[in-house]
Amino acid sequence: MDHRRPWWRTAVVYEVYLRSFADGNGDGLGDVPGLRSRLPYLAGLGVDALWVTPWYPSPMADGGYDVTDHRDVDPRFGTLADVDALLADAHTVGLRVVVDLVANHTSAEHAWFRAALAAGPGSPERSRYFFRDGRAGGNDPPNDWISAFGGPAWTRVTGPGGPEQWYLHLFAPEQPDLDWGSPDVQEEFDGIVRSWLDRGVDGIRVDAAPAMAKVPGLPDAGHAPGASFASSTWVDNPHWDVDEVHEVFRRWRRIGDAYDGDRLFVSEAVVNGPERLARYVRPDELHTTFNFDYLKAPWDARALRAVVDGTLAALAPVGAPATWVLSSHDETRHVTRFGRAHSAAAVMGFDDAAPADIGLGLRRARAAALLTLALPGGAYLYQGEELGLPEVEDLPADALQDPTWERSGHTARGRDGCRVPLPWSGQRPPFGFAPAGVRPWLPQPASWASLTVEAQDADPSSTLSLYREALRLRRELLSEEPLTWLDLGADVLAFDRGPALRCVVNLSAAPVPLAGLGRPLLASEAVGAEAVGDALAPDTAAWLAPG
Ligand code: GLC
Repeated sequence: MDHRRPWWRTAVVYEVYLRSFADGNGDGLGDVPGLRSRLPYLAGLGVDALWVTPWYPSPMADGGYDVTDHRDVDPRFGTLADVDALLADAHTVGLRVVVDLVANHTSAEHAWFRAALAAGPGSPERSRYFFRDGRAGGNDPPNDWISAFGGPAWTRVTGPGGPEQWYLHLFAPEQPDLDWGSPDVQEEFDGIVRSWLDRGVDGIRVDAAPAMAKVPGLPDAGHAPGASFASSTWVDNPHWDVDEVHEVFRRWRRIGDAYDGDRLFVSEAVVNGPERLARYVRPDELHTTFNFDYLKAPWDARALRAVVDGTLAALAPVGAPATWVLSSHDETRHVTRFGRAHSAAAVMGFDDAAPADIGLGLRRARAAALLTLALPGGAYLYQGEELGLPEVEDLPADALQDPTWERSGHTARGRDGCRVPLPWSGQRPPFGFAPAGVRPWLPQPASWASLTVEAQDADPSSTLSLYREALRLRRELLSEEPLTWLDLGADVLAFDRGPALRCVVNLSAAPVPLAGLGRPLLASEAVGAEAVGDALAPDTAAWLAPG
């Protein structure tokens, strides 16, 4: 392992969806003390860092991505002192911590937005957001832009004298977009970024990064009536991936570079293809970015290889490492996705919920873990994937909290099914997520009794054991070795990472002979290296020591 290279070039980062990780205070909602109490589990799993979703004060219209104070902690999640204690303990056990910065928008309850509403049209307070007069005498939205959660991106304000201007929200109406052309906004966030870096966080995840610039004049996008968000295919869209957005990242990079310790900026950026994505990680911008093309790819060798090659080719010229991710708090869990016939991901909970074969999906998910963790660069794991959790697709309608559900007129159930609180131990809910007798904020399936950490801990065939062993071997064997493909047929992904590791993933319908390919180290289905045998079954993967 080369210790001179920044940690984030090869890091495995574990996404903690804070609301659903561990409840320390018994209110049914995960929190910072709960997370802190589970740090030994995460250190034992073998990840390098945690990305923790927002803990800021929030009315929770979008699960905490609607922030009223970007420098503080919501009392439901803890206190700043709890965060300091978390950082100290995490660093003691060798885990880095990345916070989630929501800078495209504030909560509609934020002091700035309240002031903007009160101050009225044309005021400096309104210039921090996008307030515009409507068309058709004020009755129609100022343009045709749409919200990621469905419906128009504009909501009309009602003042003392009746309906007046409209304001822009690319997400929920409770999340008004900030105007990043405003010096107030820029300076305020300089201070916010510094406040977290000063506290000792190791990195910052930039939420909704491509949204943070708009084409001046806010021209129509040309969206068809009823269109839904499709940012991975948009070209020259006036409200997404607009070139001026890169000024924001350069500004933050200059701030981050003044700190010691290889602080990381990582962007959430769903844009049109790897070339556009590579622009976010140019040498004077962010360090890494999530790779949604990989997350969205179907379980298909050609498609996955095309994403891997396309990603590596696009990032090489800017010198940024790739990252690989299969699931997040915004997407259908990949055990379920890989069990569907089409197996490609939908965005932001707009899944078609086609039937899923969970057994097949889990088998593929375990193989995909070995693929993901063998690829060059870094990886992001989403809490619960190490337990093989499926999407919870039968949450009762009255339990659903994602704004997508209401905004879509109850046609898209949204993202709650991947956000169900983790099962830690015991035979029944709350499965150790919260003290016994407490109801978690989303109901957990009774069937998760067999998927708890406790149930999987000592079982060598469990998904948890597979992840632990893969992460241990990855640390031991891999650094920045390049990827070299081997040809084992069009439906097999096979590659070397230097002399130490060969990865073979069988996406075909027939067994792949392993004779002569090396000594088995780990396989996604067999227990123990010896049990791999001389052929790799369909939908499984193996790591081998070549030579
Ligand atoms: C990002 C977050 C998502 C949130 C949205 C708006 O996509 O991951 O959960 O709803 O931004 O802040």
